[in-house]
Amino acid sequence: MDKANKVWTDKHVKSTLPKRKATSHKGSYGTALLVAGTKDMPGAALLAGLGAMRSGVGKLVVATDAEAVAMIVSRLPEATFLADGLKHIAQRQTSIDTYRAAAIGPGTEPDDVTEKAIHVLLESQMPVVLDAGAISDRSYLTRQSPIILTPHLAEFSRITGVEIDALQENRAEYAAIWSKSLGVTIVLKGPNTVISFPDGQTWLNPTGNSALAKGGSGDTLTGMILGMLCCHSNWQQAVLNAVYLHGACADEWVLTRSAHTMLAHEVSDLLPVVWARFE
Ligand code: APR
Ligand code: MG
Repeated sequence: MDKANKVWTDKHVKSTLPKRKATSHKGSYGTALLVAGTKDMPGAALLAGLGAMRSGVGKLVVATDAEAVAMIVSRLPEATFLADGLKHIAQRQTSIDTYRAAAIGPGTEPDDVTEKAIHVLLESQMPVVLDAGAISDRSYLTRQSPIILTPHLAEFSRITGVEIDALQENRAEYAAIWSKSLGVTIVLKGPNTVISFPDGQTWLNPTGNSALAKGGSGDTLTGMILGMLCCHSNWQQAVLNAVYLHGACADEWVLTRSAHTMLAHEVSDLLPVVWARFE
């Protein structure tokens, strides 16, 4: 691990996880908007939705293809849905004023409709997480509220034009440079995920293992970041704690089970027990 950067440790997590007050109600923890999934990729919305609902949010609205709704609802009955939500958001046919945070991109095509929906979300004041199909080369400099990009190396290479090999050699340095120049938070995923904030802070995450090297684990992380943004008062701590706990769930898995066998939704299954250890 690169010693030049700070490591977000178990002590940080323990001292920054939010309390759930006895007098609280679902409104206390906000409503999250997840824009994800198509009829061919409904699982991405489900995985991110499970991650979000396990991460402290009060209510979750999933904007997804009408055909995907029926596939997701039986596994996530706690969520409500905006059928064909991506299109409705892009065309400004639905209000986004009531949400505390939004995430867009898991199982989403990087096309014109997605680009328009991102544009609409970025006009709001809430934190916005951009993942997978929402990670494209664009400018963000006029926005004051947090923007969180969650690229893996290939996605980061696509938006920066830097070769993957070069990025791999200096992940923290590149994340810091691009975080500052784009004015966004970069969660550069992989072993020891790097989290760079536009104020210049860069953190390394110590948790996680190769059990996460499987389709869908990034979708789960995006949902967890979204949920944590809703229940934390400090958005930077929300991002750091989501990345840490996501990896900690995988570390819990390999204590007794093979790293070959973990499924992405099992990260969300493990989160209740893993989270409790830090409270
Ligand atoms: N050690 C630790 N963590 C790992 C490891 C590893 N060896 N391998 C993967 N991870 C973690 C990453 O840090 C990240 O949190 O697993 C997650 C993988 O995220 P993604 O690469 O986004 O994977 P995935 O969920 O399959 O993405 C789904 O989005 O990124 C696109 O092309 C991707 O279409 C696919 C979709
Ligand atoms: Mg991904």
